[in-house]
Amino acid sequence: MDTMNSSAAPSASTALVTGATSGIGFSVGRALARLGWTVLVHGRSAERAREAAVHMGDVPGVLIPVDADLETRSGVRRLVDQVHRAAPDGLGVLVNNAGAAFDRHGLTADGVERTVAVNHLAAAGLAHSLESLLKPIGGQQPSLPRVIMMTSYLEARARPIEDWALPGEWTQMRAYASSKLTNLAYTYALAERWRDRIEVYAVDPGAVRTGFQRSAGGPLHLIGLVGAPLMSSPERPARTVVATATRPAAHPSGSYVRAVRAVDTGRAKLSSARSRDRAYQRDVYDATQRFLSG
Ligand SMILES: NC(=O)c1ccc[n+]([C@@H]2O[C@H](COP(=O)([O-])OP(=O)(O)OC[C@H]3O[C@@H](n4cnc5c(N)ncnc54)[C@H](OP(=O)(O)O)[C@@H]3O)[C@@H](O)[C@H]2O)c1
Repeated sequence: MDTMNSSAAPSASTALVTGATSGIGFSVGRALARLGWTVLVHGRSAERAREAAVHMGDVPGVLIPVDADLETRSGVRRLVDQVHRAAPDGLGVLVNNAGAAFDRHGLTADGVERTVAVNHLAAAGLAHSLESLLKPIGGQQPSLPRVIMMTSYLEARARPIEDWALPGEWTQMRAYASSKLTNLAYTYALAERWRDRIEVYAVDPGAVRTGFQRSAGGPLHLIGLVGAPLMSSPERPARTVVATATRPAAHPSGSYVRAVRAVDTGRAKLSSARSRDRAYQRDVYDATQRFLSG
C-alpha cells in the first residue's frame, strides 16, 4: 500500500483497548477518547467495561464498552464478534494491553496455563482474528493501521515455552516472563509478515504503579508493595502507547519501544537476544498459529 504515509499524523479513528478497566489500559483509552477517537473499552465483564467508560468522563470521542474474559479461545471469539458489530468500518488501532499474573499454576478450559493464555494467546488471537478489520487511519494522507502489544522488561529473564500448559516446575515469575517473551517473539514475527500493511509495536511500560501486582498476589504483590515508590504512574506509559498509536511513526514497525520519563514517544531498545532470534520467532509464530486454528 504505497499510498500509506507513516510520517503523516493519523487523524482520529477507532481503537480497541483491551484491559481498559484499570491501570495503563484505562489511561490509554481515556487519552485516545480525549483526542476524539472512538474507543472500544474492553473489560473482563460488561459491568466493569461500562464503569470504566463512565469514569473516562466527558470526552470528545465515543466510548463503546465491550466485554470478554480473555482466558479462552471462546472468550477471544466473543470479543472479536463484538468488535465486528461495534466497528463495522474497521479499526485503526488495536492495543493488546490486557495482562495478568497468578499466584499458582492453573489451566484454562483450553488446557493452557492461565498466564500464557491471557498474556500471549489472547493477544495473538485478537491480532490474528482482527487482521481483516484493521484499516488505514485518516483522511488525505492515511497511515497504516497499528497494533501495539504490551510487553515487559521481564521477558529478558524468561525461558522459552515448550508446552502451553507449562507442566513441571512452575513459578509466578517464570510463567509471567515466559508469556511475555513468547508474545514479544510473536510480535516481531507479525511485524515481519505484515510489513507494509500493518505496523506492529511492542511497548515496554517499565515498572508501573497499578493494581497489577496486587491482583497477581504471590511474590509480585510483595515486589509491588516494596517497589511502589520507585514505579511510574500509568499515565507515563499511556503517553508512549498513545504516541505510538497516533503520531507520525517515531520508530519503525517491529520496534521494541520503552516508555521513558519526559520522552512521550519512548525510546527504541534492543530486547533479549532470544526474542530477536529469527528461528525462535518462527517457531513461536507457527506453534501459536497451530493453537489458534485448533
Ligand atoms: N504494572 C507494571 O509494572 C507492568 C510492567 C510491565 C508490563 N505490564 C503490562 O501492562 C499491561 C497492563 O497492566 P497494568 O499494570 O495496567 O495492570 P492492571 O491495572 O491490572 O490492568 C490489567 C487489565 O487486564 C485485564 N485482564 C486481566 N485478565 C483478564 C482476562 N482474563 N480477561 C480480560 N481482561 C483481563 C484486567 O481486567 P480486570 O479489571 O477485570 O482484572 C485489567 O483491565 C499488562 O499486559 C501487563 O503485563 C505492566
